[in-house]
Amino acid sequence: MAIIDKYALYAKAVQTPAADARFFRHLYRDLRGRAPKRLREDFCGTFGVCCEWVKLGPGQTAHGRDLSEEALRYGRERNLSKLTPGQRRRVAVTRQDVLEPGGPSPDLILAQNFSYNVFTKREALKAYFVNCRKSLRRGGVLALDIFGGAGTLKRNVERTDNRNFVFYWEQSGFDPVTHEASCAIHFKPKGRKKVKDVFTYRWRLWTIPEVRELLAEAGFRTSHVYWEGLRGKARLERVWIALILAEK
Ligand SMILES: C[S@@+](CC[C@H](N)C(=O)[O-])C[C@H]1O[C@@H](n2cnc3c(N)ncnc32)[C@H](O)[C@@H]1O
Repeated sequence: MAIIDKYALYAKAVQTPAADARFFRHLYRDLRGRAPKRLREDFCGTFGVCCEWVKLGPGQTAHGRDLSEEALRYGRERNLSKLTPGQRRRVAVTRQDVLEPGGPSPDLILAQNFSYNVFTKREALKAYFVNCRKSLRRGGVLALDIFGGAGTLKRNVERTDNRNFVFYWEQSGFDPVTHEASCAIHFKPKGRKKVKDVFTYRWRLWTIPEVRELLAEAGFRTSHVYWEGLRGKARLERVWIALILAEK
């Protein structure tokens, strides 16, 4: 297999941590009328958002949690190392299951790039939401992204051309009985062979109403759907991405 810097390619293909940190601070302020200080980034991988969050001001703190030591180590070497000592002191990362309770109480919890789809059973996703609700400070917010659309109910491949590589998102099928799907990321660096299955996921494709019902059952006061920036205004597309924000 060709040697590639898989986390660097992944970051270029699907992450915008600096914009995300500002965007979620803005959304939180819009909902709660004050700026959030403490972030928890669940399924944080290389914790890019944590590292951008602490740049927003001296009172900003961030806690990232992920099961992958490999991803956390990469984040320490490539992201954390670029911060000033003062910023670095305000980032904590722990290798742990997001279902584990405890830890500092955040204003805002982010679970990005659909990672909670790893919970294929209702009880597990609800347990995760209960854990988030209990951890959050009063008035805290949980932010999740979600994808769907007619195009995701069958095999589909999305190809995106970047400057030095091509990014492929492949969903190899869809089981209508379980709503589960196998998804994979492939990269083709310029002038080199395609490297397949760099990241693979076995996911349940949850729907917006299912997620909102589980959030309510988990004790969240209310939830909002953001569709291309307009709350609640849904357009039907082949593949869409939306955001769900739940208020404690
Ligand atoms: C799709 S990646 C998302 C990474 C990053 N949040 C992003 O937005 O690009 C999913 C991440 O979730 C982590 N993960 C999966 N199950 C987990 C669990 N139960 N607890 C903590 N981390 C988990 C994986 O190690 C992986 O880094």
